[in-house]
Amino acid sequence: MTVHAHITGWGKFVPPCVVTNDDLAQMVDTSDGWIRTRTGIAERRIAADGETTSYMSLQAARQALEVAGLSPSQLDLIIVATVTPDHAFPATACLVQDGLGATRAAAFDLSAGCTGFIYGLSVAADLVASGAYENALVIGAETLSRIVDWSDRATCVLFGDGAGAIVLQANGANGGVLSTVLGSDGSGCELLCLPAGGSKEPASQRTLDEGLHYLKMEGRQVFRFAARAMPTATRQVLERAGLTLSDLKLVIPHQANQRIIEASTRSLGLPAEVVYSNLERYGNTSAASIPIALCEAVDEGRVEQDDLIVCVGFGAGLTWGAAAIRWSMPLPPELPSPWERVLRQLRYRYASLRSLVRRFVRWLFALGVKE
Ligand code: UT7
Repeated sequence: MTVHAHITGWGKFVPPCVVTNDDLAQMVDTSDGWIRTRTGIAERRIAADGETTSYMSLQAARQALEVAGLSPSQLDLIIVATVTPDHAFPATACLVQDGLGATRAAAFDLSAGCTGFIYGLSVAADLVASGAYENALVIGAETLSRIVDWSDRATCVLFGDGAGAIVLQANGANGGVLSTVLGSDGSGCELLCLPAGGSKEPASQRTLDEGLHYLKMEGRQVFRFAARAMPTATRQVLERAGLTLSDLKLVIPHQANQRIIEASTRSLGLPAEVVYSNLERYGNTSAASIPIALCEAVDEGRVEQDDLIVCVGFGAGLTWGAAAIRWSMPLPPELPSPWERVLRQLRYRYASLRSLVRRFVRWLFALGVKE
């Protein structure tokens, strides 16, 4: 029997703290007018101290599992797409695995810039469709506010924090992820990067003094690349699925700049209402932008069962990618009963307890070894 990877759960988390353009105008030489007209952004969410990438991933993941009606112990795979992991290593996906109590899941992070979620979706969908795994969790999550130079007006006005998650499940029914397209061009690696903190430029007093631990971007060049990459990837992914632009119900593009979204929409000859945008409220949340937008599009009733959706992105690397999805879940989804919710809360408490006990036992053993 042919197996397909279906999206059966979705969830998002955005930090409560809202920073408006006017707030930024108090910090750097910018204005609400400039930011709105050049980017389409009005405000963004900024993570508080405890709101790390793993924390936000966990909140989004719990929602997605709830919608899917799946318990964490049924997960086979967790992928977190991010350029702002909690640590260089271990993987943020492992922290999510521990927080969920996903006892039998493989877990790894994936770095493909703002295209990360599409890369994760593609890898997970292929693993599910191949029969290797049955249930996968794909998360896009970022705390870009931690690597943004808050004195650089060219970048600090663009980015925001948040996380989005989906559950992919194997099913014999037609639909789900129909096709994906992934691309890369490392010759553009300097156009959008974090210069220091890796093996090339280990963190030092000099890298700190020169601000090399902050995100750097050649905005105009990335803009030109994006305006070409998004329409091309959209056409390619539809062609691969044997479909055309006229079959499309909704495009969910990476939310980087409203002018990039509009240029891509024009280039594809699509009406504006077919292309989803929530950029105004969140800014560019990198790998989180597409899954957050997908959740909101579903919640706003923009997606119905059997609709054809294309998610398309571009980002650091340079990378680009798209996924064509036939939405197979009935909407609105059947949400868990209050009793099931209580049971889930207890399960997460148990996961925290289990983690604590495992740490304690490891500590005890370490003591024994020393003695
Ligand atoms: O997820 C992938 C990541 N990145 C992107 O997708 C970003 C793609 N690029 C862009 O979105 C745009 O290139 C930006 C929004 C970053 C910049 O817009 P732009 O229309 O390309 O502006 P620009 O860089 O050409 O700058 C125009 C002017 C410059 O002043 P001068 O040299 O003309 O006097 C900048 O210094 O705007 C100035 N400027 C600002 N002014 C007020 C740059 N940033 C600001 C600002 N406020 N925040």
